[in-house]
Amino acid sequence: MNFLSLIESKRENQPLAAAAIQSFVSEFTAGRIPDYQMAAMLMAIFFRGMNTEETRALTLAMRDSGEVLKFPAEPRPVVDKHSTGGVGDKVSLPLAPLLACLGFRVPMISGRGLGITGGTLDKLESIPGFTTQLEPARIVEQTQELGLAMAGQTATMVPADKKLYALRDVTGTVPSVPLITASILSKKLAEGLDALIMDVKFGTAAFMQTEVQARELAQSIVNLAQACGVKTRAMLTDMNTPLGCAAGNWLEVKESVECLEGRGPNDLKELVIACAAHLLEQTGRVATLDAGRELAVRCLASGEPRLKWDALIVAQGGDLDAFQRKLAAAPAAPVVRELKAQRSGYVTRCDARVIGEVIRDLGGGRLTKDSVIQPDVGLDLIAKPGEQRRAGELLCRIHAPTASDADMAATRLAVAFEQADEPPLLKPLIRDVV
Ligand code: URA
Repeated sequence: MNFLSLIESKRENQPLAAAAIQSFVSEFTAGRIPDYQMAAMLMAIFFRGMNTEETRALTLAMRDSGEVLKFPAEPRPVVDKHSTGGVGDKVSLPLAPLLACLGFRVPMISGRGLGITGGTLDKLESIPGFTTQLEPARIVEQTQELGLAMAGQTATMVPADKKLYALRDVTGTVPSVPLITASILSKKLAEGLDALIMDVKFGTAAFMQTEVQARELAQSIVNLAQACGVKTRAMLTDMNTPLGCAAGNWLEVKESVECLEGRGPNDLKELVIACAAHLLEQTGRVATLDAGRELAVRCLASGEPRLKWDALIVAQGGDLDAFQRKLAAAPAAPVVRELKAQRSGYVTRCDARVIGEVIRDLGGGRLTKDSVIQPDVGLDLIAKPGEQRRAGELLCRIHAPTASDADMAATRLAVAFEQADEPPLLKPLIRDVV
């Protein structure tokens, strides 16, 4: 294979043959194509795009760069949910045990935080002792026994994505529809799924800033996944405002437990129930979405998913007593500071981007790929658009590692919140389903 001529073809907007794509993905994964040449190819793809056949070939080549999970045939469908990433987006945490209790098998392979968006693995690792490193055989075994496993990509699963993503991250080639489609679906197809629900986010804190871009990505993912035999739907959801009232790894685990106990914020519950309802309908377990919602609400209220969550912690090496003690204890961050409203009125804006950046800079996310996460920092008790706050009342609580970090956060957060005399016009969280 002459990779230089393939780069030139893509640069000149000529489509690449499936065999050529398979070949360069496996050569790159094996270390036989240098990063500088792959970076040029990624930039050519970023500008020229890929047609459906090229995107399919890239996705399948990436999936087949490593091990693919194989589940024994049985009545419980194998399902998963994937979000394109946001601030405060903790849906996977309460959803996975709920799905297991609804009779699904959920081998959830998740990622770490990217930029300002949080990652499920970082959240789970704020639980004392919890490991997210499971070998593929263990993921299958645990999913068969418990109904769920929540783990990271292993060295042997989709290694092509790991290498390509690292390169995209530092070459400005992340927000490309074919590259995101291939990256997400290669991992999901490697799980051996029957059905997938996608949460494609748009807004200030999402990869896709506008609803139009999010719809294009959602359509691309749904079309390709369906063509590969996975029943797939994508919800388009708003990421201008953080999801729920807590953002930051441990604070989000706490809020997820509240959701599993029938408490917690309504927007989080709405998304969790919607994901479950879609999967129930997609797999033919219920005839309508409303019936799916009803079943999911009843299951959540039964308390079984909360017990399943504890079983998950134990199965993945977590210390359940230490976890319960941490839940019941005072905030774990060294400094907790209140941010108060300067005036009375309705909250009209609560900017997810500013909040995400502040949490990242408090140590809750990564500035470099070697940054060490501080699990307990973040914000909670966040005031959301439509809520009223009088002057002096709380807009949020800042959990910081030091007093000077808390000062920095308070100054920057002052512009994240806006208030007005009139209530804002609130749009639905789930804008559409593709
Ligand atoms: N999430 C992924 O897994 N890959 C992307 O390219 C973007 C978001």
